Amino acid sequence: MTDSKSALRIDVSKGGPGSGKGTQCANIVQHFGYTHLSAGDLLRAEIKSGSENGTMIQEMIKEGKIVPSEVTIKLLQKAMQESGNDKFLIDGFPRNEENRAAFESITKIEPEFVLFFDCSEEEMERRLLNRNQGRVDDNIETIRKRFKVFLESSIPVVEYYDSKGKVRKIDAAKSVEEVFEAVKAIFTQKYEKAAAV
Ligand code: ADP
Ligand code: C5P
Ligand code: MG
Repeated sequence: MTDSKSALRIDVSKGGPGSGKGTQCANIVQHFGYTHLSAGDLLRAEIKSGSENGTMIQEMIKEGKIVPSEVTIKLLQKAMQESGNDKFLIDGFPRNEENRAAFESITKIEPEFVLFFDCSEEEMERRLLNRNQGRVDDNIETIRKRFKVFLESSIPVVEYYDSKGKVRKIDAAKSVEEVFEAVKAIFTQKYEKAAAV
């Protein structure tokens, strides 16, 4: 969405753990010039930086819990400022109603649209167990907790955006290339619409 006050444009990438958000965001950035901000990546970088919040964040990630919004929003705002860009693809955020309401009230920005990567739990579980990035949360016990949090806390946020006509649902169970074709079609349509105005 475009926000008249800040002139920033934000699109949001949502989908369950392992649905392919990060993979597709990397493709979108290359083709459409966004800055990709993954809330999970920012939180993991914060742990590595030795920040005073590091231990708390690490514990929450290990349990699949959602870190308090103020921590994540500060990291997102800092990354936005440092990027020098005005087009952002925010990945894995907002994760719950608190994330959404706090972000909108602090920044006064709402997303232009929300990409929802729709994928079965069986397929997401397979992908996460094969991800091999050494993540503390890619084990079956934490994965089950993350699926539960996704259903209970993140799906309501998708429903909220859907009620505002902002959700673009993509079948994420297909190959990386096929999913990107669907993503591209959404962005191309968006830019064609904008050009027609
Ligand atoms: P997310 O950011 O949604 O958690 P990732 O993009 O990290 O998901 O993808 C999770 C794992 O699945 C990665 O190992 C990635 O290479 C793989 N992956 C992503 N998209 C697909 C796809 N369409 N088909 C098969 N594997 C995929
Ligand atoms: O999106 P990603 O899979 O990288 O997120 C990993 C973890 O980071 C989540 O399970 C959660 O513990 C934490 N996170 C969070 N708040 C967000 C995004 C991620 O607490 N908005
Ligand atoms: Mg990711």
